[in-house]
Amino acid sequence: PEASALCGKTVIVTAGPTREKIDDVRFLSNYSSGKMGFAIAAEAARRGAKVRLVTGPVNLPTPPGVERIDVESAAGMLAAARPLFDDCDLFIGAAAVADYRPEAPVAGKIKKKDAEMEIRLVRNPDILAGFANGRKPGQVAVGFALETAGGIDYARRKLVDKRLDLVAFNIYDGRTSGFEVDTNALTLLGRDGNVTELPLLSKEKAAAKLLDAVESILPR
Ligand code: PMT
Repeated sequence: PEASALCGKTVIVTAGPTREKIDDVRFLSNYSSGKMGFAIAAEAARRGAKVRLVTGPVNLPTPPGVERIDVESAAGMLAAARPLFDDCDLFIGAAAVADYRPEAPVAGKIKKKDAEMEIRLVRNPDILAGFANGRKPGQVAVGFALETAGGIDYARRKLVDKRLDLVAFNIYDGRTSGFEVDTNALTLLGRDGNVTELPLLSKEKAAAKLLDAVESILPR
């Protein structure tokens, strides 16, 4: 068979959730398990890519041949990923990065009081958009967009606003697709206007289909 276009390429994959500290014992986060990003990292490595997997806290084994970097917060993910940007052919953002973090995490444990409490949140940096905006010609940027039903227009917005080559739109339905479960239904939106609706697949098969599409846009 013909060698994969990914063979010998350097790939960054982000995966999992981030945790944004409220105090030393509490955080804001989401339901990402890391399964989708880990499946992509595993498949890219199988195709001969040099894979760097930057992941938030998850309970998954490191795929064979993959270099894994564990992080906690969005700021930590950016700090780990940014030094790798220059030497990479492809960035795939499968992480569910928190858009906001508590402005001022409290040292120790916040004490319960007999009153309401407010936590002020500030914006986190966008790791994928940072890569896409600063990249050199030939570097490819792929994102995910998790939306509830009817969200394809939001996914298209992300493709344009973050200046991506490809977006994988997944519908979060709480049962078969999106966070935590072993299956996902992806719709791939290309910068060229191409739309490919994939059926519900295992995250391993969905990762393979996504990488097939990526191979077709990777410079040889
Ligand atoms: O981990 P699993 O349980 O297997 O679930 C997989 C998944 C649903 C988490 C995954 O398939 C997915 O959709 N990941 C993106 C989740 C999301 O909500 O992304 P977003 O719409 O907030 O962000 C869009 C893109 O920008 C993503 O590629 C994201 O990684 C990236 N991003 C977002 C915010 C930020 N601060 N930095 C980023 O890099």
